[in-house]
Amino acid sequence: MKILIVNAKLYQNGKLIKGDILIDRKRIVKIAPQIEAIADKVINANGACVFPGFIDLHVHLRDPGQTYKEDIVSGTKAAAHGGFTAVCAMPNTEPITDNIASVEYIQLRAKEHGSAKVYVIGAITKKSAGEEIAEMATMKSGGIVAVSDDGKCVQNARLMLSCMKYAANFNIPLIIHAEDYNLAGKGQIHGGKIATQVGLSGIPGLAEEVIIARDIMLADSAGAKLHIAHISTAKSLELVRRAKERGLPITCEVTPHHLVLNEEACLHFDTNTKMKPPLRSESDRLACVQALKDGLIDCIATDHAPHADFEKEKEFDYAPFGIIGLETAFPVLYKHLVLGKEISLACLVDALSSAPAKVLNLPGGTLKEGGAADITIIDLKKETHFTEQNILSKSKNTPWLNQSLPGKVMWTICAGNITYQDTEGL
Ligand code: DOR
Ligand code: ZN
Repeated sequence: MKILIVNAKLYQNGKLIKGDILIDRKRIVKIAPQIEAIADKVINANGACVFPGFIDLHVHLRDPGQTYKEDIVSGTKAAAHGGFTAVCAMPNTEPITDNIASVEYIQLRAKEHGSAKVYVIGAITKKSAGEEIAEMATMKSGGIVAVSDDGKCVQNARLMLSCMKYAANFNIPLIIHAEDYNLAGKGQIHGGKIATQVGLSGIPGLAEEVIIARDIMLADSAGAKLHIAHISTAKSLELVRRAKERGLPITCEVTPHHLVLNEEACLHFDTNTKMKPPLRSESDRLACVQALKDGLIDCIATDHAPHADFEKEKEFDYAPFGIIGLETAFPVLYKHLVLGKEISLACLVDALSSAPAKVLNLPGGTLKEGGAADITIIDLKKETHFTEQNILSKSKNTPWLNQSLPGKVMWTICAGNITYQDTEGL
């Protein structure tokens, strides 16, 4: 199918330029100020922005095993609604994605029924139990793009070192959820002033920082490529800065919520402010924003973590950690950081597209002739209203529920197919 997009502002090298774009099957074939061509479908963008399809390195699709929260169909529909054309699926499903059959299940389901490209992340340890190494090499031959025990953290440094040596040998990047269990204890929110004020137990920044320090040292020793998921404290960033200065292959990501919210969001015991790592202090948040601007943080990833209402509607201590993020990511960040004059639009778009592609060496992330037809068209003058009805994820656990935010995804095109189309007013 040929799709011609006209009357658009095309995102090219950090700038928005008026132009048209022609797609033929899975590829962008022409980008020019004006294109005359016969196409199967013409999209009049009406002055909206055409961005490269967003890529999310950190998504919990919950399939198999917890499909009442999300599944590959609903999770990738939510991705397309958020402007994402590719997601990396974290392995903390039931069962854990720690073998090639589980990898193939996700790939097959996504290929047949998905609305976005799904890259699979395998587990570091069997069952992510932190006891013995998973079948990384077989999973790599099956196409995994990284390994992670996300949601969990390998506590045993000796085992982590051998996992890193093994991963390095097969050129598999490791993604870590940095959390020392003893330091984190039964903490519910950031171990700071709000925890003391409201009487909830705290998770100190140190729980994250000691593991980051340890894993940087282990990765250096093993020659492994390390990516730090959802970094959240100023001191963690300092550790990454020093590692990068030494030329180590260390990268990191930050979530939208750690960029725009701080621990004060937990004052009212809203369980949609409960996640791991927890929302930190305002100075940590500001350090994350600065690090994103400086390029110290490589990219933004949502940590989309769906949980059902009956699970979240509990006393704070009993609710699970995590919030959804695919659909709210762009509008939340556009409102608070771009319109709030903390970062440029180019910084935001790159952090959601070319930057994550670079971290895991994935295709896409830029608009270019010959490149993948992975595109999102966003009208910055329109708003998205996040009601239970129009959130496409099965779960609605977001602190932005029932809010209107600027920026509306009008169309998403993945591999030349329209995966999302705004229907309001049609
Ligand atoms: O808040 C979180 N939820 N953090 C994680 O690391 C895991 C995730 C989940 O799977 O629910
Ligand atoms: Zn995590």
